[in-house]
Amino acid sequence: MKVFRTGIVGTGFVGRIHVETLRRLGNVEIVALTDKFSAESSARQLNISRSFTDYREMIDTMHLDAVHICTPNNTHFEIAMYALDHGVNVICEKPMTTSIRQAEELVKKAKEKGLVAAVNFHNRFYPMTNHLKNIIADGELGDVFSLSGSYMQDWLLFPTDYSWRLNAAESGNTRVVADIGSHWMDLAEFVSGKKITAVCADFSTIYKTRKKPKKNVLAFSTEKFREEDYENIPINTEDNASVMFRFSNGAKGSAFFSQVIAGKSVAIDLVVGGYKKSAEWNSENCNRLVIGNRDSCNEVLEKGFATVHPKTIPLVAYPFGHLEGFADAFKQCFRQVYASIEKPEGDYDYATFEDGLHEMILCDRIFESNEKQQWVEL
Ligand SMILES: NC(=O)c1ccc[n+]([C@@H]2O[C@H](COP(=O)([O-])OP(=O)(O)OC[C@H]3O[C@@H](n4cnc5c(N)ncnc54)[C@H](O)[C@@H]3O)[C@@H](O)[C@H]2O)c1
Repeated sequence: MKVFRTGIVGTGFVGRIHVETLRRLGNVEIVALTDKFSAESSARQLNISRSFTDYREMIDTMHLDAVHICTPNNTHFEIAMYALDHGVNVICEKPMTTSIRQAEELVKKAKEKGLVAAVNFHNRFYPMTNHLKNIIADGELGDVFSLSGSYMQDWLLFPTDYSWRLNAAESGNTRVVADIGSHWMDLAEFVSGKKITAVCADFSTIYKTRKKPKKNVLAFSTEKFREEDYENIPINTEDNASVMFRFSNGAKGSAFFSQVIAGKSVAIDLVVGGYKKSAEWNSENCNRLVIGNRDSCNEVLEKGFATVHPKTIPLVAYPFGHLEGFADAFKQCFRQVYASIEKPEGDYDYATFEDGLHEMILCDRIFESNEKQQWVEL
C-alpha cells in the first residue's frame, strides 16, 4: 500500500478536521503543517513533527504528494498555484478562490501538470446524499422539476461575532453565498445531475457595522471582550441571500442562505420534487432521507449497508444505527481523492477544480444579480 506524504496549510477550524480525518484513512501520513500564526503550537497539539510559517518552505523541502489548503479564501490561489507548479496534488477548501480568473488559471495549471486538484465539497459524501443522487439517476423520483431549500447558520447573529469571512478582501465579494450557499448549490447540482443556468438574487445585511476584536480570533469563536477591545468596522457583504434558480433540464428552485438565524448551527435542507416522488435531506439528520409519496405513506430511509443504493455502499463505513456525520463525509471525500492520485481513471464523486470554477461563476452571477436586481444567465 502506498503511503502518501501530506502537508496541511492552515490549522484553524477546518484544518484540524482535515488532520483528524486523514489519519483515519490509514494511507496518509501528515508529515508537516504550515500556519502563518500558530505553526509551532498547532504542530505540538496535533503531534506533527515538522511545522512551517511559510507554505513555500514546506513544499520546497518536504517532498509532498499532496497539500490540503485550509486557509482563508483569498490565500487559496497562490498556495494552490505554488503546489501545482511544484508537482504536488491539491485538495483545496471551498470556495476555491476569490475570483473567476484565478479559478480558471488553476484549472489550466492542474490540467497542464496532470495533477489531482479537488475542492472539498464534502456534502456529496454523506451516504444519504449519495443515495439520493443514485436513485435520481435511476429515475426513482421521476423527472426532477424542482430543487429548493436552505442553508442556515447562526454564528454571526450578534454584532460582536467576528471572523475574517466578514472582510470581503479575505473572503470575496459574496459571503453567505460563497461560504455556505456554494455547498447547497454544489449539492443540488450533484444529486440532480443538472447545472444551474440562471439566477435571481436578493441580499440583505442586518448589521452595516460590526465590532471587530482588536486581537486575532478563530472562526466560530464565542469569546467576548471589553467594549474598548473592539473596533467598529463597516460590513459590505450579505448576511442573508434569497436566490431563485433555473436548471439545465428546465427544473426551477429557490434557496435561502443565512448566517444569522438563531438556533440554526449548520442546517442544510434540500427538497427535490419529481413527477413520481419527492425526497428531502437535512444535514441535522444526515443519516436519514425522507421519500415523499402522494398516494401512500412517506418512507424514512436510515443509512445502512442494506438500505442504500448499491453504488453508495462504499461510502457506508459502519452498520445500521451507527451514525456517520460531518467528519465522516470529509473522510470519504479524501479517500476518493487519494485513490484517484493512485488510479486516475475511476468513477469518482469528488468536486474537481472545474467544479470549483463553476461555483465561482455561480457566486459571481448571484452577486451581479443582486446588484442589478434582475435574473442573470450563466
Ligand atoms: N468544507 C467545509 O465544510 C468548510 C468548513 C469550514 C471552513 N471551510 C473553509 O476552510 C477555509 C478555512 O476556514 P476556517 O474556518 O478553518 O478558518 P480559521 O480562521 O479557523 O482558520 C484559518 C487558519 O489559516 C491560518 N492562515 C491564515 N493565512 C495563512 C497563510 N497565508 N498561510 C498559512 N496559514 C494561514 C490561520 O492562522 C488559521 O489557523 C476557508 O476557505 C473556509 O471557507 C470549509
